Amino acid sequence: MAYIKWTKTLAVNVKELDTQHRNIIRAANEMLEAMSQGKGHKKYYSLIKHLETYIDEHFTLEETYMTRYGYKDFDDHKKEHEAFKVEFSKFRKQFEEEGSTTRLVIKTMSWMHEWLLDHVLSTDQKMVDFLKPEMKKDPRVKR
Ligand SMILES: [Fe+2]
Ligand SMILES: [Fe+2]
Repeated sequence: MAYIKWTKTLAVNVKELDTQHRNIIRAANEMLEAMSQGKGHKKYYSLIKHLETYIDEHFTLEETYMTRYGYKDFDDHKKEHEAFKVEFSKFRKQFEEEGSTTRLVIKTMSWMHEWLLDHVLSTDQKMVDFLKPEMKKDPRVKR
């Protein structure tokens, strides 16, 4: 499985969101690195728990912005976030019930990899195209 490279294409150019996206990708890459060293099983649970919380915070932040500025595709965007959370928690539960198997680790990582790239490149970009002009006018936004 290839590492996710941070490139300009992934940047949505809102500092706070880019930092969070980078941190998510970094954690995913750490997991891939651990897997390549045969330490994936050990790392799996702590990483899944960390990502679950961190990604949840990230989604909440995006949703706060979308609501604040009245984004018209909010419902669809939120649905994607919700679907991610449901799917991700299934992987965690499967681990809690069955322990970490190589198959589960690989399945989680390849699913997450694909989801992240797809969501950031398409759904998040679309949201940011709308948000950026709004945020520029808003003094509460950190830059
Ligand atoms: Fe999003
Ligand atoms: Fe995002």
